[in-house]
Amino acid sequence: MNMRNQILQVESLTKIYGRGENKTEALKGIAFNVLEGEFLGIMGASGSGKTTLLNCIATMLKPTSGKIILKGKNVAGFSGGELADYRGKKIGYLFQEFELLENLTARENITLPLFLHGVSAKKAKSDIEALAAMLDIAGELDKFPTQLSGGQKQRVAAARALISDPDIVLADEPTGALDSKNSKTLMDKLEAINREQRKTIMMVTHDANAASYCSRILFIQDGRIFHELRRNISTESTSDFYDRIANVMAQLGGGSANVL
Ligand SMILES: Nc1ncnc2c1ncn2[C@@H]1O[C@H](COP(=O)(O)OP(=O)(O)OP(=O)(O)O)[C@@H](O)[C@H]1O
Ligand SMILES: [Mg+2]
Repeated sequence: MNMRNQILQVESLTKIYGRGENKTEALKGIAFNVLEGEFLGIMGASGSGKTTLLNCIATMLKPTSGKIILKGKNVAGFSGGELADYRGKKIGYLFQEFELLENLTARENITLPLFLHGVSAKKAKSDIEALAAMLDIAGELDKFPTQLSGGQKQRVAAARALISDPDIVLADEPTGALDSKNSKTLMDKLEAINREQRKTIMMVTHDANAASYCSRILFIQDGRIFHELRRNISTESTSDFYDRIANVMAQLGGGSANVL
């Protein structure tokens, strides 16, 4: 029996872009729950609705219908200070292309969300040192993004996503712009943060290697959830889970990793 709390509930979520002939039904009634401390993966072919789903949860997009409930509160009802609080403190977002501000140092990039929300500089300093050590960027904090490798940039972006201690981290293909070595490093760090800090993570990925770190994977096809895989964390290794993920991908895409 699982005694963990539900942190996120998505109910009957739909999203239609455009109208008339230009109408695209990107989400066609998505429903799932996320438990506190889960590392949830979202996989699916290009155009299946993964980013749309993540951006609805992040309130960057307004759903056409349905509910997104974080810790018991319907996100659609937020406005003003509550919406700013949600975006700045309750969720952390990790982008494929890092999205660091080029004219700020790594340290300034990481602390920007805190200063926008009036957190004291002293608290920020101790938090940033701990996160930087964990993400192996302690020596890079005073560098500008152009002076960092891709892997380091993404770990700086991860620190920025985590600095406000959000309820959930949303990541859209965070390894998509990284080579395999840097992807592995990032996934090792995210897994450690998930395991040690019980941080809830929801990650979109095309990469079965990255997905194998997850505790559960939802497969999306054409705006609907059509399959789910759960990893038994205590008995199933990432490589065994990788095999099961690859199996689903092969059944769906004729064996081509590019299809998912
Ligand atoms: N702003 C938009 N206006 C109109 N249609 C859009 C818009 N954004 C996405 N779409 C459409 O919605 C569908 C889902 O797009 P989405 O970006 O969510 O897919 P995805 O699963 O993230 O794909 P990828 O793996 O390529 O990133 C696609 O058919 C896409 O063309
Ligand atoms: Mg996408």
